[in-house]
Amino acid sequence: MKKLLFLFLFPLFFLQAQQENVIENILSQLSIEEKIAMCHAQSKFTSPGIPRLGIPELWMSDGPHGIRPEINWDDWGYANWTNDYVTAFPALTCLAATFNQDLSLEYGISIGEEARYRKKDVLLGPGINIYRTPLNGRNFEYMGEDPYLASEMVVPYIQGVQKNGVAACVKHYALNNQEHWRGHINVEVSDRALHEIYLPAFKAAVMQGNAWAIMGSYNKFREQHCCHNDILLNKILKKSWGFDGVVISDWGGVHDTDQAIYNGLDIEMGTPSDKSYSKRYPYESNFLGNPFLKKIIEGKVEETLLDDKVRRILRLMLRTSLNKNRPFGSINNKQHYETAYKVASEGVVLLKNIENFLPIDKNKQIKIAVIGENAKKSMSVGGGSSELKPDKEISPLSGIQNEFKNAVIKYSKGYSSNPGDDPDDLKKEALAIVKESDVVLFIGGLNKNSFQDSEANDRKNYILPYGQPKLINEISKYNKNIAVILISGNAVKTDWKKNVKSILQTWYLGSEAGNAIASILSGKINPSGKLPFTFPKSLNDNGAHYYGKLSYPGDGATQYYKEDILVGYRWHDTKNIKPSFSFGHGLSYTSFELTEISSNKKKYSTQETIKINCTVKNTGDFEGKEVVQIYVGKVNSKVNRAEKELKGFRKVFVEMNKSEKIGIEIPVKDLSYYNEIDSNWVIEKGDYFIYVGNASNNIFEKILITIT
Ligand code: BGC
Repeated sequence: MKKLLFLFLFPLFFLQAQQENVIENILSQLSIEEKIAMCHAQSKFTSPGIPRLGIPELWMSDGPHGIRPEINWDDWGYANWTNDYVTAFPALTCLAATFNQDLSLEYGISIGEEARYRKKDVLLGPGINIYRTPLNGRNFEYMGEDPYLASEMVVPYIQGVQKNGVAACVKHYALNNQEHWRGHINVEVSDRALHEIYLPAFKAAVMQGNAWAIMGSYNKFREQHCCHNDILLNKILKKSWGFDGVVISDWGGVHDTDQAIYNGLDIEMGTPSDKSYSKRYPYESNFLGNPFLKKIIEGKVEETLLDDKVRRILRLMLRTSLNKNRPFGSINNKQHYETAYKVASEGVVLLKNIENFLPIDKNKQIKIAVIGENAKKSMSVGGGSSELKPDKEISPLSGIQNEFKNAVIKYSKGYSSNPGDDPDDLKKEALAIVKESDVVLFIGGLNKNSFQDSEANDRKNYILPYGQPKLINEISKYNKNIAVILISGNAVKTDWKKNVKSILQTWYLGSEAGNAIASILSGKINPSGKLPFTFPKSLNDNGAHYYGKLSYPGDGATQYYKEDILVGYRWHDTKNIKPSFSFGHGLSYTSFELTEISSNKKKYSTQETIKINCTVKNTGDFEGKEVVQIYVGKVNSKVNRAEKELKGFRKVFVEMNKSEKIGIEIPVKDLSYYNEIDSNWVIEKGDYFIYVGNASNNIFEKILITIT
């Protein structure tokens, strides 16, 4: 066996050794000035190669759900090329909601192909900051509130991207969980919450996904900016996780030359340059430019520190721009649209559906009122750096018109994000249509405007904006047959939910948005998405907000993550606070039962793996997919622990009246907690409950096991 393993690994070691030789060879030929230049930007989205040796520059692009249009060389203006149209993939909250790792791989491959075709070497994504508050303007770019779910979903995404010889640059490392004051807020969080909640997805990205690059975040952690943070970059990322790739700063996130030199940063991007400095746009004035050079020349800093950064950059180049074997990529092709459609339609979550109101029979000759600005609004533009120029984007209204050919469809905006529009006129017009229709599809939610789901600012409050709650309630007085289609990357207050029959959470779905929504509405697709975060009833029911301003958003200088490890459903479950919709919740047009649930043993040693078996039975009238979710909770723990935590899941397709048997494995070591005193992971012995269900609040069976 050992011999076989050696034979298998030998070519890998050989290739790696060869790569390291090439790196040393190039390094030995470089002047200090050439090496310094490689450590900072030379334009908005490139960093230099070595022209003298024919080594190409590195091209980077946002990220994370499509390849951004070209930006000017030296400023933030769009370059207005006409060949940078792309497929807009669904934003990552949607990908997380699929609970489907195979789809994540397919997504990664497709977006990587588009990046490659657009000649990018580094894709600035995926984003995996944990969803701490529903107000965070960038939650839509991330993978939800659970570290296990985000870890499981991010690894295949990275592997898919990197198969193309394009680096994934995982962001924003770390604790950038709000946009408000993102450039300076100092985050104080316990080591335990750091390691159990905020770091696992990054750790998985590095150690299992082998991400080739990572982006430091804007905020501070323990008084040091995260783009040059000794604990996060040197001690954890590079030393403990063995990261051999490149740390890239967030754009303009560097503030200090010494810290940038010593604390683990490799490439500085986006720092404004001192224009009085030299002839061209003077990126050499950046912190890792001439100030770094001067310190080396004066003998104040060892050149070995520079060499470590350059070795990493050359390694990244050999994996990407210098990799002669990488494929050429492709763009806007049928497969990419198919991937976008699959992810979109598997990610949509059916939150509520009374009287089987959905699906709507598309053969019927009915009158449908489509109300709401979001029925027509493009959601690929706006939102900040993740903005896209889609080659096509099907709006929800067009999707519905294409799908329901026998219906008479009337549209009215109903509400508006434009302060110039008169709400009373809009309401009147909408109600007139509502009154004469059989069915109302209210298509609202948030959007990509500033202070909504958008970079640089947080939302100002939790409610649906632009008077939507009032409008929904008003509509319900005239027509009870309402489905609300929420387009957002965040939870919203749903105190109007009793007045509507169905609610769909549909995220930002990209190019195929309208087709996917219409397929769900007509039943062509049976919904199978599950919430990757909780919808609290009110903001104060969320752990971060419960503790007031010092916890969120902080006092202007510092914030304290007072809810500690109890983020999202961990808070709701442990404190017994019922949310509006729970983590992992998501209905289907069919019904499922989980039966024959068992563990392979009752007692396990710390080295063993727990095997949970279960039969998923489709007991309704549609074929469909269900997500079996396994949560674990310690009975009488010596330390504070959440009532239960997600430790395994599996999405399974089951035909009507059929059953599927599944097995899910959980290594006992995954039940450990982080011990702050000894800085290590501890498996507490004793009893644990294993909860098996199809949502965090819908558990079919609770099994008691013991760790000995
Ligand atoms: C964002 C990053 C993005 C970068 C480049 C920053 O403002 O925080 O996520 O990759 O800009 O556009």
